[in-house]
Amino acid sequence: MKYDFETVVNRSKLGSSKWSKMTAINPNVGPDIVPFSTADMEFKNAPEIIEGLKKYVDEMVFGYTGPTDAYYESVINWMTRHHGFTPKKEWIVTTPGVVPAIKDLIMALSKPGDGVLITPPVYHPFRMSIVSAGRDPVESPLIDCGGTYKIDFEDFEKKVSQPNVKLFVLCSPHNPVGRVWTKEELEKISEICLKHDVFVIDDEIHFDLIMPGYKHVSMATLKPEYFNNCALCTAPSKTFNIAGLQVSNIFIPNDDRRKIFTDYIGMSRLNAIAYKACELAYNNCEEWLSEVIKVIDANRQYVEDFMAEKLPEIKVYRLEGTYLLWFDCRALGLDKDALETFMQQEAQLFMDEGYIFGTGGEGFERIVLACPKKVIADAMDRLYNAVQRLKASRK
Ligand SMILES: Cc1ncc(COP(=O)(O)O)c(C=O)c1O
Repeated sequence: MKYDFETVVNRSKLGSSKWSKMTAINPNVGPDIVPFSTADMEFKNAPEIIEGLKKYVDEMVFGYTGPTDAYYESVINWMTRHHGFTPKKEWIVTTPGVVPAIKDLIMALSKPGDGVLITPPVYHPFRMSIVSAGRDPVESPLIDCGGTYKIDFEDFEKKVSQPNVKLFVLCSPHNPVGRVWTKEELEKISEICLKHDVFVIDDEIHFDLIMPGYKHVSMATLKPEYFNNCALCTAPSKTFNIAGLQVSNIFIPNDDRRKIFTDYIGMSRLNAIAYKACELAYNNCEEWLSEVIKVIDANRQYVEDFMAEKLPEIKVYRLEGTYLLWFDCRALGLDKDALETFMQQEAQLFMDEGYIFGTGGEGFERIVLACPKKVIADAMDRLYNAVQRLKASRK
């Protein structure tokens, strides 16, 4: 490997949200414990970003700053090279994050009381954004096929055709279940939504993190009428671990919808460093990305092998995309609170509990695989030992 994916960086004093959360849960957590909850990476940023920003800080004048032509070019070129479509510059709306964009899209494109569809278990801020916007969350739960999930299309169409449903928030690839939706699935979703005049908020934030053997299909590459019925939400933040810089690119090809959105958000100004980090990442970090995907995939393999051999009652679900592995702990026979306590206190494992992702999530855990191998191996050992103690206590 050209890059360092082995050094463990202690982020406990760096303001990292997930490290702070871990310390709040257990102030006496051991010095070697690394948390696995919030979706960011335990790797240092690519040197191309660090060095590029250093140079930028030396040269820049930090007055009010907007996206430059070079910025737009880097975004357009990334989409062209990696996602098979060449966006027009005017489609791009920059926002300080995908979650704020989703909330603002909901506010701008629906009325209080309207229904907004989600497919749980799904990234929990979707539901939180719908509820805090005063809209009605409508659910079409995914079907758990044991090891993977699919969309229940019959139920999906039933929900989409409810007269109050105006929006669908799609997670593609899907956090937390790790699905990379196929072209056929996405076409079916798009067709149903178009037929019932339901606009798609298409969160593709994990679109660069696709495991070997799978292919992400962006909504932007489907029929123009499908893309025209959607707001495609993207960011370099997951891909290059720069979520703390808050930069995302929302593509809205439909002029009317885009105007409603931009009128709603008003003057959306990001900070100068955010734009530059995105530009540096998209222009210079392809090799870093291909290496990080190998590291994530190797960690996935490690966990799968470990569980199959040592903890076969825990079922690991198939990871097609994202760096978030989903596994089923229901066979441990603990209710949701007991499972959480067991993981955090007994196993010293601070993951995202499945229940936070809504219907169908209870009894599951989501672990971040984007960390040094040693961190994953230690975590598996702690889990194994804790399960042995649990079994012994039941004898
Ligand atoms: C599906 C999904 N959307 C959005 C986000 C966060 O987006 P942002 O940090 O740009 O608000 C995450 C982070 O985990 C995510 O998994």
